[in-house]
Amino acid sequence: MIDRNNTIAGWVLFAGIIALGASIVTGELFHAERPEKMGFPIEGVEAEGEAGAEAEKPIEFYLASADVAKGQDVFKKCAACHNADKGGSNALGPNLWGILGEPVGKGHAFAFSDALAGKGGNWDWANLSEWLANPKKFAPGTKMTFAGLSKPEDRANIIAYLNAQSDAPRPLPAAPAEAVAPAAGDSAAAPAEGEAAAEAPAAGNEAAAKPAE
Ligand code: HEC
Repeated sequence: MIDRNNTIAGWVLFAGIIALGASIVTGELFHAERPEKMGFPIEGVEAEGEAGAEAEKPIEFYLASADVAKGQDVFKKCAACHNADKGGSNALGPNLWGILGEPVGKGHAFAFSDALAGKGGNWDWANLSEWLANPKKFAPGTKMTFAGLSKPEDRANIIAYLNAQSDAPRPLPAAPAEAVAPAAGDSAAAPAEGEAAAEAPAAGNEAAAKPAE
């Protein structure tokens, strides 16, 4: 009896050790397979959201229909620190005459932060938009304490206005092909797919019909 009890106790202990070992092994396995990002990216969701505020087309798309007068109005938000007059003086922020095409954070004899002065490159449509959307994100540590303009239309209008405050305003860019193409592609793709689907069974029927002839 005592012997049997010991045997039972032994098996219980053994089972416990096996279970512990197994849990360590599976834990290790599953840990290794745990993805960095949880959840599955669902393709197509972004495209669906395009009508919403989140998905944004390239700034050129908005610039194509930008309004300089509206931009001048939005510029009131900047006027506490900037002017864009020809020969205008620097204030809290630098004078912005002719900013498009100028080196980033270098011009107008302004004491720029290292954050902006170290960015490199020249101001163009895209990086101005990125900067004005979120200055702190564009140049972490910037002196420009401005939250940013979240609406791409506002940015496009203000960039069009700034472009006009220049000795050599540039022609506003046309809407980029990528912004137009998906829309055209979608409508074109639908009937094309339908055709293909309609044709396939027909071809199949023909093929099937031939040997019967
Ligand atoms: C609170 C003051 C303030 C406001 C408001 C502000 N800015 Fe600035 N801006 C600055 C400062 C300061 C700098 C220099 C940033 C640095 O050196 O990091 C700057 C830099 C810039 C530059 C870069 C200039 C160059 O030569 O590289 C642009 C462009 C600019 N601002 C545009 C705007 C526009 C457009 C607005 C309005 C939507 C605006 N800023 C609002 C203070 C401001």
